[in-house]
Amino acid sequence: MNIMQNVGIGSAINRVEGLQKVTGRARYAAEHPVPGLLYGVIVSGAIAKGRIVEIDEAAARAVPGVVEVLTHRNRPHIAWFDRSHRDMVAPPGSPFKALYDDKILFSGQPIALVLAESFETARYAASLVSATYETEPYNTDFEKAQSERFMPRKKRDSFHPPKSRGDAQAAYDTASVKVSAEYHLATEHHNPMEMHASTVIWEDDGTITVHDKTQGPQNVRDYLASVFGMSAKSVRVVNAFVGGAFGSGLRPQYQVYLAVMAARMLKRSVRVVMTRQQMFTHGHRPEALQSVQLGAEKDGQLTAILNSATTSTSRYENNMEDVVIWGLMNYACENASGEYAIAPVDTATSSDMRAPGAATGMTFFEMAMDEMAYAAGIDPLEFRLKNYSETDQMNGTPFTSKALREAYAAGAEAFGWSRRSASPRSMKEGKELVGWGVATGMWDAMFSKTSAKARLSANGHLEVSSAASDIGTGTYTVMAQTAAGALGLPVEQVTVRLGDSSLPIAPVEGGSWMAASVGAAVQQACDAVAEKLLKAATKLEASPLGKASLEDVRFSDGCIILREDTSRGVAITDVMRAAGMDTIEVEETASGGISGMISQMRKSRNTHSAVFVEVRVDEELGVVRVTRVVNAVAAGRIINPKTARSQILGGVVMGIGMALHEESMIDHRLGRFMNHNYAEYHVPVNADIGSIDVIFVDEPDPEVTPLGVKGLGEIGIVGTAGAVANAIYHATGRRVRSLPITIDKLLDSSIMP
Ligand code: MOS
Repeated sequence: MNIMQNVGIGSAINRVEGLQKVTGRARYAAEHPVPGLLYGVIVSGAIAKGRIVEIDEAAARAVPGVVEVLTHRNRPHIAWFDRSHRDMVAPPGSPFKALYDDKILFSGQPIALVLAESFETARYAASLVSATYETEPYNTDFEKAQSERFMPRKKRDSFHPPKSRGDAQAAYDTASVKVSAEYHLATEHHNPMEMHASTVIWEDDGTITVHDKTQGPQNVRDYLASVFGMSAKSVRVVNAFVGGAFGSGLRPQYQVYLAVMAARMLKRSVRVVMTRQQMFTHGHRPEALQSVQLGAEKDGQLTAILNSATTSTSRYENNMEDVVIWGLMNYACENASGEYAIAPVDTATSSDMRAPGAATGMTFFEMAMDEMAYAAGIDPLEFRLKNYSETDQMNGTPFTSKALREAYAAGAEAFGWSRRSASPRSMKEGKELVGWGVATGMWDAMFSKTSAKARLSANGHLEVSSAASDIGTGTYTVMAQTAAGALGLPVEQVTVRLGDSSLPIAPVEGGSWMAASVGAAVQQACDAVAEKLLKAATKLEASPLGKASLEDVRFSDGCIILREDTSRGVAITDVMRAAGMDTIEVEETASGGISGMISQMRKSRNTHSAVFVEVRVDEELGVVRVTRVVNAVAAGRIINPKTARSQILGGVVMGIGMALHEESMIDHRLGRFMNHNYAEYHVPVNADIGSIDVIFVDEPDPEVTPLGVKGLGEIGIVGTAGAVANAIYHATGRRVRSLPITIDKLLDSSIMP
């Protein structure tokens, strides 16, 4: 193996920013020291809907050290949000405007911002702010909201309406074997370690630098510039380190808006951090109801799919997701119909959360597929293979690649699926019922136009930069090793800059497109540097490379070397010195190319996975343990097997949380999420996780994106919860169709013999 393979794409190098993170040197949004900083603490409203009659802020203002109390009555004039001021991730509707007027739209809505010289003072003074309200009728009960389900004419840009084919109802009516089931998913909230936080640094010339917890610094910059009527040049947004997000940082949150409003009004630097409770007052994975009806021949051939779902949104924005398309795309079936709608409740608008739509819709579809396998008396894996489709059945297009068959095989082999005993409740060990379940996962392989700059210095140091984000996903590392590989440099000689709106244009980090997109941009920029280097080298007198072109040489070990004769080469630093070059700097934009755009119309681009799960269920207590998971993933080319595996591990853990733990509970008498803390909102902890085996099957795909990379941030969660639910059925013989599958639901369906 040569040096290039050790540093470049495909090598399992450690996280390049790991040391900074574990030593505490990496600063997160609320950790940047600023002299003369003011601290803002948000006061949350107490009612679900209505209006503020009176706010009493006198006691707060009387506390020494309090500088200002901002409310809707004294806020400065704002250029405001109209249609053109929405952030790029906003769904159709009218975005929430903090401290805009006296109207209350959801429980926990910010009603005041207390600013003081210390955080403790601000927090204490905030506790003294009181308000009286006039309440209006509201509904936070999603089941009741079903009567209001609708589909707005204006769709989200990212939304793909389901396309029906054949006559699903007629095929279902006459099917030999039928399954019909309704599923429910509880609301989930993103619970990253780092809460939403902004540190706004005020400069005397009126410009601001904002350290913000966001997945897209340029999205926040553009939002702030338009809302406050500032030029884009006078706003810089930095998110060099992000402590997790899961989608919660796709849209600018209200703390950044409040912090900037206060900084501009008081002409001072301001920090605002949400509390953990306030993290439950904005976006969340929508609550969902899904019904699936399947018809099949006696031999298990699917003949009918009817898949319909409703997800929750707010009254002021129409958030929508791709929930029902996945099963329609994935399986061979001549008659299939999909129906999707949203239903408004009086909460903040639901939002994207890791694999939005697919994590919900594919999970339930795969639970229905499991039910059909049992109904038809076929092994669940064999049933899926029987209905396997090489093409995208909903769109009638081929996939750029689909190595799902290989994923099923590799996963089944590693899991030992062939040793499964078919009947439910047939694999008992001690006091525990053992169950094995399988589910398929599917997500998009997207690409988003991205720019990157590469700058090579005469001492051989390479800096690559882009306004990309690393939300814990490995972007720093992916950029570093792609650059190192392209120019044959040790990765230690590469510096990555990202998370800064002043860097070359990049999209928000989301949809699993970042590695494929910024990776391609970095590769392109570094290739351009290589070309300039070679040109300079071949111009040198007595060049050992002669008139070599790029195809004739390779870059490795800091040198340009002739492929034909590896004894002939020249050090990059020597070339630059001899040519009198201090730096070579190139900025490139990866757009996916024209051929990419054309084939995008004719081909489907997706990742696939096969998830195998073992659960053990205590027969008397209903306690579920997920003891083993094998997730076999087909996601094109893997840039870094180590960070890639970590992405799938995280997705699987979140999938186990979806299956067993995560649930935001509303007390409808208050219209408020009540378990708004880490004690009562359950996410899996270490003791909940057994063995997780991640497999990447070989899936060469030069067509899907410029580097052949498909992305991994989201595929790991899709299907996992379904496989857990299916394993629980296999263990207990009880089908729980409501996630999370908590102990009470299992005991309620009396798993006891
Ligand atoms: Mo992801 S929900 O696109 O951050």
